[in-house]
Amino acid sequence: MMITEMLPVHLEQVKSLLDVCFGESAWSMESLRSQLDKNDSRCTVAIEDDTVGGFLAFEQVLDEGSIVEVAVHPDCRRRGIARGLITSAINSADGLHTVFLEVRESNTPAVKLYESLGFTQIAVRKGYYDHPKEDAVIMNLLISVCNTPNL
Ligand SMILES: CC(C)(COP(=O)(O)OP(=O)(O)OC[C@H]1O[C@@H](n2cnc3c(N)ncnc32)[C@H](O)[C@@H]1OP(=O)(O)O)[C@@H](O)C(=O)NCCC(=O)NCCS
Repeated sequence: MMITEMLPVHLEQVKSLLDVCFGESAWSMESLRSQLDKNDSRCTVAIEDDTVGGFLAFEQVLDEGSIVEVAVHPDCRRRGIARGLITSAINSADGLHTVFLEVRESNTPAVKLYESLGFTQIAVRKGYYDHPKEDAVIMNLLISVCNTPNL
């Protein structure tokens, strides 16, 4: 898999990937397009043989980053794709000191993924998600300036 900047030509494939991964709560095409166009956002895809297998939306404001969305096609999981997308976004960001994210409490694969990258749980936001109603776990990664490339 090659990790590369998402382009408008990838929109249809990324939308299908999000539908497979998130079902009814997947972003609409309009939301996806506005994420791609947003100034502080960087969207990347993992591609193999012209097929998009992974997607990441990452945002940065000053020294603070956030993982807005990450999804890997079920056929491509446990191959390090999500880890690759996240580390590549963090390593290529300038002046990043901290990264935050929110994740459903029951989403064990995602929680394990983030923990494997060094994120720690810092808070719980009660009832944050709908359909189904669920708490969000807030996770944070502090980036050591000396240690950035070694994630
Ligand atoms: C969460 C998700 C993005 C992980 O993608 P992935 O490419 O399979 O993850 P990786 O292969 O990079 O996994 C890296 C590490 O995360 C952990 N991990 C990933 N999936 C896991 C699982 N199902 N169970 C336990 N640990 C898991 C492991 O530590 C793994 O390292 P290992 O394979 O060497 O043990 C993917 O399962 C997915 O798209 N899920 C649906 C969408 C979603 O929930 N997104 C997150 C929203 S916050």
